[in-house]
Amino acid sequence: MSQEVRGVISRSKGAPVEVTTIVVPDPGPGEAIVRIQSCGVCHTDLHYREGGINDDYPFLLGHEAAGVVEQVGEGVTDVAPGDFVVLNWRAVCGVCRACRRGRPWYCFNTHNAAQRMTLTDGTELAPALGIGAFAEKTLVHAGQCTKVNPAARPAAVGLLGCGVMAGLGAAMNTGNVTRGDSVAVIGCGGVGDAAVVGAALAGATTIVAVDTDSRKLDWARQFGATHTVNASETDPVEAIRAATGGFGADVVIDAVGRPETWKQAFYARDLAGTVVLVGVPTPQMQIELPLLDVFGRGGALKSSWYGDCLPSRDFPMLTDLYLQGRLDLDAFVTEEIALDQVENAFDRMHHGDVLRSVVVF
Ligand SMILES: NC(=O)c1ccc[n+]([C@@H]2O[C@H](COP(=O)([O-])OP(=O)(O)OC[C@H]3O[C@@H](n4cnc5c(N)ncnc54)[C@H](O)[C@@H]3O)[C@@H](O)[C@H]2O)c1
Ligand SMILES: [Zn+2]
Ligand SMILES: [Zn+2]
Repeated sequence: MSQEVRGVISRSKGAPVEVTTIVVPDPGPGEAIVRIQSCGVCHTDLHYREGGINDDYPFLLGHEAAGVVEQVGEGVTDVAPGDFVVLNWRAVCGVCRACRRGRPWYCFNTHNAAQRMTLTDGTELAPALGIGAFAEKTLVHAGQCTKVNPAARPAAVGLLGCGVMAGLGAAMNTGNVTRGDSVAVIGCGGVGDAAVVGAALAGATTIVAVDTDSRKLDWARQFGATHTVNASETDPVEAIRAATGGFGADVVIDAVGRPETWKQAFYARDLAGTVVLVGVPTPQMQIELPLLDVFGRGGALKSSWYGDCLPSRDFPMLTDLYLQGRLDLDAFVTEEIALDQVENAFDRMHHGDVLRSVVVF
């Protein structure tokens, strides 16, 4: 027996999103249905709506979610109905070449539900990042459900499901930030501020936050930035060098994902430093650099998908840090909204009014 719930879809490129009826099939082998309690609005949902990811419309948006497992399919043993879970988009396969080499955070064959959710006329939906959680219930692969301590507030820990994990992990996992490092973060939305927090947790002593919006810089300071730079007034490369003894930062994280910000990151790092790209570029974007600069400056140019996280390792640990008061996830939740306010939340994100709007059910 399938069931009907309300969900937010993006029907065509650039058009406003709409709340409509979604058909959720019974979970098949290895699948689970999760009753969603919260789902954050991430910039990637807006990229989907604008055709920046692919043209697989209609999309069922939403992918930063926490909820309770309601039903599981055949063969599911890791989670059971009643479990409080954060949904992840990296259900590792265990057998691909990355997994077999002991690097499951690069898994090349992550699991999603095999069945599709549909509209009432049978049109198949493409769930954002294989999740689709701006919906009262969603169907996922059971491996996409990571159990965490149920004492945690869903709207806060749900953010570990995407943006906050991407930022924390860009600093802690991909950038390998450690005690005494200098770090710069370009773009201080939810993802960039999480990178600031990750750098601070890892022991960075200089953390330079860069944004074009001064309100974002005030937030970044509250999250642990030691220096702030308004890139609409000051050259960020010069400012980052000035904050780091003239050398540049050990790790520079681009949480915007544009050619100009990536170039700033490239030139704002110290010799042998690391650039981490976590912002998502669009297919049209190109970059041109003197190859000699790439060679001569050395170091590492990395991109970070989902903060190179392993959900089973990182979500419960970060939830514990949150419950112990050492990781302020609540500070990322600017507002709680209803399901029919996602379009409005995109506007507010666009105007820089929020770090995260979180749909609560
Ligand atoms: N790699 C991943 O796994 C992953 C996961 C989640 C999100 N993302 C991506 O990360 C990016 C940031 O997401 P978000 O939710 O924080 O978005 P956001 O819109 O909340 O934040 C972007 C920030 O960048 C600032 N900005 C824009 N142009 C700038 C410039 N030229 N210089 C400095 N700052 C500038 C904006 O003022 C804003 O504060 C998006 O591209 C998103 O798709 C990546
Ligand atoms: Zn794998
Ligand atoms: Zn996201």
